[in-house]
Amino acid sequence: VDSSSLPPRPPVVTIMGHVDHGKTTLLDYLRKSSIVSQEHGGITQHIGAFSVRMSTGKLITFLDTPGHAAFLSMRQRGANVTDIVILVVAADDSVKPQTIEAIKHAQAAKVPIIVAINKIDKDSANIDRVKSDLAVNGLEIEDHGGDVQVVPVSGKTGQGMDDLEENILLLADMLDIRSETDGMAEGWVLESSIKPIGRAATVLVKRGTLRQGDFIVAGTAFTKIRSLRNEAGQEVTEAPPGTAVEVLGWKDPPEAGDLILQAPTEDRAKEAVHYRQEFKEREEVIAQMA
Ligand code: GTP
Ligand code: NA
Ligand code: MG
Repeated sequence: VDSSSLPPRPPVVTIMGHVDHGKTTLLDYLRKSSIVSQEHGGITQHIGAFSVRMSTGKLITFLDTPGHAAFLSMRQRGANVTDIVILVVAADDSVKPQTIEAIKHAQAAKVPIIVAINKIDKDSANIDRVKSDLAVNGLEIEDHGGDVQVVPVSGKTGQGMDDLEENILLLADMLDIRSETDGMAEGWVLESSIKPIGRAATVLVKRGTLRQGDFIVAGTAFTKIRSLRNEAGQEVTEAPPGTAVEVLGWKDPPEAGDLILQAPTEDRAKEAVHYRQEFKEREEVIAQMA
């Protein structure tokens, strides 16, 4: 399919890496605000999604992921919905289990990686050691003849951050990401929660445009979208491709990782849910017999 005539959409960039290597701090720097200071114990526990207008005017959607070992499925999800992975490795701690896991997820999903070697302001920082540890773990970095860019940075002093931003924009331009804005919308549930305003799901729109009043199916749940909210909690009328949005109006909550498909009518949405429910029950029976 020739996509060159389709409109460009914002690239989705996911920040991955070992716990406390500075993912949220780097993202805070890029979006010029502080999330890390509001987190419980400084640990990220969910996928945060933010659209950031970069210095060139280009819009990029960033997904933050938790580095804590307990959040494996969230990282898998992150690697599968993204166009680019930024792998954060602390210069004083080097490659750790969740670093290796992130490399595997990104490679399995065939997503290009940019490495940010963070915390280079620290006395104990050792950039060369990080580079050789990355190479040992199968990452073909530029210094070793590969094509993975490695950018030393400090989320604390801001050193190297312009360089990182430039690398992200260059790669995004090279990938030339486009998708349809019309037609039935499609996306992924990043997370699902119960809020005082009702059941909510954060959805990353990959193609088409979600609008208030649309019928959508996610897993075995369906809804007529009551309202859409952006990351600042403001109501919006539509969510174009490449953006994340909070969808309200669910009777049954969808599950994180579910594929979202827009249905043209309520009847078609109900049919799809019915079919999926049957399919799921059959799968469960088969699983029990195995
Ligand atoms: P999880 O989401 O829990 O996996 O952690 P994270 O990777 O998002 O790390 P976070 O941004 O929470 O930072 C962890 C700690 O490292 C915090 O205390 C930050 O202030 C500190 N930190 C982050 N970047 C730098 C840096 O460049 N230099 C120094 N010295 N400290 C940093
Ligand atoms: Na942290
Ligand atoms: Mg974090």
